[in-house]
Amino acid sequence: MSSAAPFKKGSAADLLWQKIDRRRLPRHIAIIMDGNGRWARRRHLPRVAGHQAGVRAVRRVVESCARIGIPVLTLYAFSLENWKRPRQEVAFLMKLLREYIRTELDTLQRNNIGLQVIGRWQQLPEGVREDVAQAVASTSANRGMQLVVALNYSARAELVDAVNSLLELHQRNGFAGRITEADLAAHLYTRNLPDPDLLIRTSGELRVSNFLLWQIAYTEIWVTDTLWPDFTERHLLEAVYEYQQRERRYGAVTPAAAGRAGSRSVSPPDRR
Ligand code: FPP
Repeated sequence: MSSAAPFKKGSAADLLWQKIDRRRLPRHIAIIMDGNGRWARRRHLPRVAGHQAGVRAVRRVVESCARIGIPVLTLYAFSLENWKRPRQEVAFLMKLLREYIRTELDTLQRNNIGLQVIGRWQQLPEGVREDVAQAVASTSANRGMQLVVALNYSARAELVDAVNSLLELHQRNGFAGRITEADLAAHLYTRNLPDPDLLIRTSGELRVSNFLLWQIAYTEIWVTDTLWPDFTERHLLEAVYEYQQRERRYGAVTPAAAGRAGSRSVSPPDRR
């Protein structure tokens, strides 16, 4: 889907795209899609109408990310905590998800997009599980953008699952010493993915809501008041543009500041 002019010439998205440095795009964008319920309430519609409009925003964003060449896009679609919602809303969300998979599969294939799922998705109702497994398998050879959907996901549960998986391995193979950060990262659901460079949250809430807690240690966070169903390619590009204005120091200082302090860095203590 990458092309020289991914947006309509002269559109707000096109103008933003002109300002973006294409060599420094985020390798991984993660999105907490929030505000579907409020979007519906403002229109005196049932909450589920907000989720339906949310799926349209999902389509827009998947298409835009693929067009501009983002390697990985992760969407927080359903958390372990979302089971606390009314039963009908949960059922509707599952139905929407299955519809999305069915209707978008051809588009994913045509655009070489791989679908991956993170979370305890094997615990979802059978029909959803089957559709998800089939879509993941049939797109697994696609080497274009990876679309990662967090389903029945909780970052704390992911860490617990990673620790248990490590424990099992060590029990099988005999204990091999201390566990390192790399060991733990290699047992997360996201083990084959780079950490997100950019985390977007819609609807103005300043929370990370149990999402990718390990992986976002150094992620740049961009929050917009826009509700998810109103999120467009323009918002996406605003986020990417702002991300490129940030200075990522990963706990260090800028070379200029280091020079002023007149000191060389010391060797770090052993992190293992
Ligand atoms: C948050 O809005 C949104 C969700 C919990 C669900 C997100 C799901 C979709 C957009 C549709 C299905 C997803 C895919 C990938 C096809 P909220 O209901 O918490 O909004 P509120 O905070 O305004 O009540």
